[in-house]
Amino acid sequence: MSILKVARMGHPSLRRRARPLDPDEIRTPAVQQLIDDMMQTMAEYQGIGLAAPQVHEGVRLFVAGYEDEAAGDREHSPLKVLALINPEVEPMGKEVVEDWEGCLSIPEIRGRVPRARDVRVKAFDRDGLRIELKAHGYFARVLQHETDHLDGILFIDRMESLATLTFIEEYGRYWAKG
Ligand code: NI
Repeated sequence: MSILKVARMGHPSLRRRARPLDPDEIRTPAVQQLIDDMMQTMAEYQGIGLAAPQVHEGVRLFVAGYEDEAAGDREHSPLKVLALINPEVEPMGKEVVEDWEGCLSIPEIRGRVPRARDVRVKAFDRDGLRIELKAHGYFARVLQHETDHLDGILFIDRMESLATLTFIEEYGRYWAKG
């Protein structure tokens, strides 16, 4: 496995629409390696999600971490990582919530972004099997953020106002919940 270079805002790779992967392609060593490398890269930089265009690969694939609530109490539940391919995200209901987001491609910056609270996602998993999942709250936010990367959209494009755009140090000082 290797740690991949992450494209930063301004790199054209972040603004292109990525192509779908053919289901037969998913199980190839090249794609499996990319998934492993993306998981390792995300862990290295302590991200909660990473999309292929962020590592200069124009394919519709991302990895995302989520809490495994079944595994124990919320405070100490381990983070699991999921790979989703060709995801289709659909809001469930009309509830929109605003919360802070960051992005490994926009280092040191946070901003408040409105997102659907509940979503349904259809995708392929890394074995090439069709899956469907429902997500709520922060995980739903991560899934929407990562799917946006596949369409060349960054979280700042989704902000209603740039007034909350904040450097990480000021975020910690003035905005992080204590
Ligand atoms: Ni991002």
